[in-house]
Amino acid sequence: MLLAASAIALLPAMQARAQSGELVLYCSVGEEWCRVMSEAFSRETGINVLMTRASSGETYAKIKAEEGQPRGDVWWGGTGDPHLQAAQEGLTEEYRSPVLAELQDWAVRQAETSGFRTVGIYAGALGFGYNSELVDDPAPACWADLLDPRFADDVQVANPNSSGTSYTMLATMVQLMGEDEAFDYLTQLHNNISQYTQSGSAPIRAAATGETAIGIVFQHDAVAQTVQGAPIVTVAPCEGTGYEVGSMSIIAGGPNPDNARIWYDWALSPAAQELGASAASYQVPSNVNAATPPEAPRLEDVRLIDYDFATYGSSETRTRLLARWDAEIGSLPQ
Ligand code: G6P
Repeated sequence: MLLAASAIALLPAMQARAQSGELVLYCSVGEEWCRVMSEAFSRETGINVLMTRASSGETYAKIKAEEGQPRGDVWWGGTGDPHLQAAQEGLTEEYRSPVLAELQDWAVRQAETSGFRTVGIYAGALGFGYNSELVDDPAPACWADLLDPRFADDVQVANPNSSGTSYTMLATMVQLMGEDEAFDYLTQLHNNISQYTQSGSAPIRAAATGETAIGIVFQHDAVAQTVQGAPIVTVAPCEGTGYEVGSMSIIAGGPNPDNARIWYDWALSPAAQELGASAASYQVPSNVNAATPPEAPRLEDVRLIDYDFATYGSSETRTRLLARWDAEIGSLPQ
């Protein structure tokens, strides 16, 4: 009897503890890195992480669909543009982490652009990779080379609606060439595309297994395949290229706001950022005190455009470009 009474008395406290012991994480990097991060955080804090992995555009759409009844606490990883769009639409929460002071300028700029509703966690340049066993000389070195009819049905890139990688490519082409010229380029490139994949890194995994010859991806995703022994050569396109500021945001009104901040500060720490390399993720970390993996393509060696994140991460521009892509490219016969 006594036991039963004290057990009942304990119940609300246990419920409260159970609630404060969880974090619902939406993760938009590779599966392995999502898992390594979730497990390390749980080990260090005792907070149980419920992780779902989905591409950047898909995760943005999920958070938008859950507006008013948010289920997630933190959106970690994925390209910065949809994080900026979520920030502009009030889907994510303002937070100024004490660790901001340790971050690279590009990561802080991302925070400033969003009114501190998102922050940069890593950076990486766009490019492509090819399977050297399937591509003869001359090897492709430029965006223009991907239009060569010898690559008919041998190039893959993701769909920019689901994938932040592919949206980065679309926005890069618009900034490199001008909008109409970019859509002309993508229309011609369509002749060589065998498949628009859902996830941004899928094309280079397909190139690694020989399913396709060329995958348009972030350069670090191509390097990861080479490190794992695939005959993949990474290309920084000769015309210049765009880049991502991979980002993290706290979802507004999420169920575990305190744990969201604990994750946020932890994920910006050097030790947490250095976990990427152990999951074959070779981005440049945003904390200046985190070691950059030696495999990471050096941004200084790539001809980078001055990517306008404020414009291409705005609701208006991202929505408009994706609608134009659907109308002019997505609707073309395969
Ligand atoms: C890969 C890259 C990340 C990038 C992410 C975007 O995981 O390694 O640097 O942020 O793709 O994924 P998505 O599927 O949205 O293109």
